[in-house]
Amino acid sequence: MSNTGLPHEFPPLKNDLLLRAAKGEKTERAPVWVMRQAGRYLPEFRAVRAEQDFFKVCRTPELACEVTLQPIRRYKGLVDASIIFSDILVVPQAMGLVVEMIPGKGPSFPEPLKEPQDMDRLTKNVDVEKELGYVCDAITLTRQKLEGQVPLIGFCGAPWTLFAYMIEGGGSKTLQLAKTWIFKYPNESKELLQRIAIVCADFLVAQIKAGAQLVQVFDSWAGELSPADYREFSLPYNQLISKIVRTKSQELQLPKVPMCLFPKGANWGLEELAEKAGYDILGLDWVHEPATARKCVGNRVVLQGNLDPNVLYGGRDAIEREVKKMSEGFMVDGASVGWIANLGHGITPGVDPDDLKWFFECVHKYSATQS
Ligand code: CP3
Repeated sequence: MSNTGLPHEFPPLKNDLLLRAAKGEKTERAPVWVMRQAGRYLPEFRAVRAEQDFFKVCRTPELACEVTLQPIRRYKGLVDASIIFSDILVVPQAMGLVVEMIPGKGPSFPEPLKEPQDMDRLTKNVDVEKELGYVCDAITLTRQKLEGQVPLIGFCGAPWTLFAYMIEGGGSKTLQLAKTWIFKYPNESKELLQRIAIVCADFLVAQIKAGAQLVQVFDSWAGELSPADYREFSLPYNQLISKIVRTKSQELQLPKVPMCLFPKGANWGLEELAEKAGYDILGLDWVHEPATARKCVGNRVVLQGNLDPNVLYGGRDAIEREVKKMSEGFMVDGASVGWIANLGHGITPGVDPDDLKWFFECVHKYSATQS
């Protein structure tokens, strides 16, 4: 055992900008990374995917590590975090469901949960270290290979978002099937949400133990619920995750790792989530006005975000103008304080990698704290 409480020794961290901002500190500039930064907009990622199935990449630590490092190599000195290559849908797989990634269509469950009795098909007491050990191995390997250049982020999906995928069987415009469950079978829905939350929490603890230095919970479909339904079917389970992760990390003497919640679209709830969700960082989509969001949460939480990913299609002048505007909105008295620059959702496949480079350069320029 090393003196960090972790079972592995890792190279010392050379760039801790992300971790300082995550504590709410004033930083010389905003740290920056983007969701889906290892993805199809990168030719080197497409080359790996031309040879390998999506979940094969997730399940092979050497491949997951390789694609995680691709943006770190390409944007050396410009990007301040890496995020382990995986997917939120590895949790439903660990619970016993089959998930395939269909080119051009996205994720698909051949046998989604149709009725509450289908929950019997799910594995009870999931052994996360066994079922998802491949993600943990990828994290440990990546921490070694990163050589301390930037911190490594681990993640999982939020219970509500995973519940919706498990019932819809894939993407959906209306979430009609998932909503049928919460309105028709509220008790069974809560039982399922609770079961998912426990797996997610154990999974995040395992990721921290494996070397993750910040963890993020993706509630991509938060905005599909009314505020009252969000309070009943999403928030309690996101709170449960943070509670379990913090308690277990302490019991296991793991490092205190910052936790980020990305409740996409739940824009009515910023103040309430800052108060109650139990996360250090809230991720914002682009529908938030940065200065208003900052005022609304005060210094209770750190904010992450939030440029519309489509700005990256607007050319260099638009990118520069929008990054400047975003920075002015988030900064307080000319300083970057408790702000992690990011897009408001994942980067999309058609972006020119050089335009993302320009985005990073503009963040460096416009988020610099004036001394
Ligand atoms: O951010 C990163 O670079 C880490 C890797 C990561 C992926 N998915 C890789 C991926 C992360 C953090 C995710 C999270 C994820 N996965 C979410 C939450 C974030 C969000 O975007 O809302 C969701 C909803 C999923 C489920 C999922 N996976 C969908 C809907 C899709 C298809 C959409 C698409 O972009 O095609 C995926 C596939 C996926 N996950 C890809 C990548 C790089 C592209 C698929 C491919 O390589 O063929």
